[in-house]
Amino acid sequence: MKRLKIGLLGLGQVGSGVYSILKSKGANLARKNGTAFVLEKIAVKHSIKKRAVHPNRKQLTTNTRSLVRDPKIDVVVELIGGIHPAKELILSALRSGKDVITANKALLAEHGRQIFGEAKRLKRHLFFEASVGGGIPVIKVVREGLVANQIRSIYSIINGTSNYILTKMSEEHLDFKEALKLAQKKGYAEADPRLDIEGIDAAHKLTILASLVFGGWVNFKDIYVRGISSIRSEDISFAEEFGYTIKLLAVAKKTADGIEAHVQPTLLPKSHVLSNVRGSYNAVLMQGDEVGDILLYGRGAGSKPTGSAVVSDLVDLARSVDSDHSFAPNLKPLKVRNISSLLSRYYLRLHVVDRPGVLAKISEVLGRQKISISDVIQKERRLGSVVPLILLTHGTQEHSLRRAVHAIDRLAVLKEKAQVLRIEE
Ligand code: HSE
Repeated sequence: MKRLKIGLLGLGQVGSGVYSILKSKGANLARKNGTAFVLEKIAVKHSIKKRAVHPNRKQLTTNTRSLVRDPKIDVVVELIGGIHPAKELILSALRSGKDVITANKALLAEHGRQIFGEAKRLKRHLFFEASVGGGIPVIKVVREGLVANQIRSIYSIINGTSNYILTKMSEEHLDFKEALKLAQKKGYAEADPRLDIEGIDAAHKLTILASLVFGGWVNFKDIYVRGISSIRSEDISFAEEFGYTIKLLAVAKKTADGIEAHVQPTLLPKSHVLSNVRGSYNAVLMQGDEVGDILLYGRGAGSKPTGSAVVSDLVDLARSVDSDHSFAPNLKPLKVRNISSLLSRYYLRLHVVDRPGVLAKISEVLGRQKISISDVIQKERRLGSVVPLILLTHGTQEHSLRRAVHAIDRLAVLKEKAQVLRIEE
């Protein structure tokens, strides 16, 4: 039987998932695929440490540099995350003639042109299923199942941590910090959770996905990114009163003026299919020109779901070692539209002094930018006290909205800066 010798970089959440799947299913996978998956070496930071899994001491090493050059190893599986030293290790593995599997969305999004370019030049395989959507096999679906389609749009929830936090805030009324702590305990969050809650992780994943489906490279820095850290429980409750949920939505569309790509907390109607994606689940809703709408749904974070995606890449690699053609984005840069030109409805939450004429002042500012109000609620409190005033607008361009909000924020009746959220219908 053929043997595929694996060098694993990292034995954290995802590495442990891969280890335990190979341990429990290795024999079965070998029988089904005609290849034995041999975990030759595992590089860890500390060789003695309490872990969820217990490899043989002889398998462990702290020397990452020699692992990626070890002639006994066929494939390097990079699961340490972050940019450095992951980038140097992957490049060194490719240059040492090894194929590479990675879950590193940050690295592929920010340095993908170099990494994919080098893999292509050296005719090495680079698989990255676990980099987007955790356990959802979205890359394989795009590569195989949707190969006959031009994808027109992607609407997605692709950060498990943020979705878990928003769900806990909405359903169990936990505060933001408590919910984040729980997500960290469950192993969903990045080592630096700011990547999750500031939307950066979702933007990394959107960069990879959009670059695969739109036929050119989307520059990560061109994607508008805003995370969920400014979302308060009251925003979730007000949105619910209007019939919406709040989700961290990652959107990319192909338009005549370029690619539209953004990640931001967004109000979605409760009846929208993505509104029912709860907890650490992810979902990717795509529209193909032939297939129409297609929805992929599954666990987007966590040790076993992400480990499952990595193992599927090992099987893919075992089947494609004889081919020199890997699925990779076209590296020609694509133009991404500036968000200010996009049209949308908006939710505004204003904390204002409750006195006569306040609503008139605010609607006058909006009127000057030709922004029409579609709905209003104001919570009844004592006259003269500070009250939340919630406005929903009709469709307007982002730049008009920004100008109006800038003027509203300067009104004396406003007690804190306005909260502004996009509404997607
Ligand atoms: N921190 C990521 C998330 C892990 O929460 O989605 C999966 O990529």
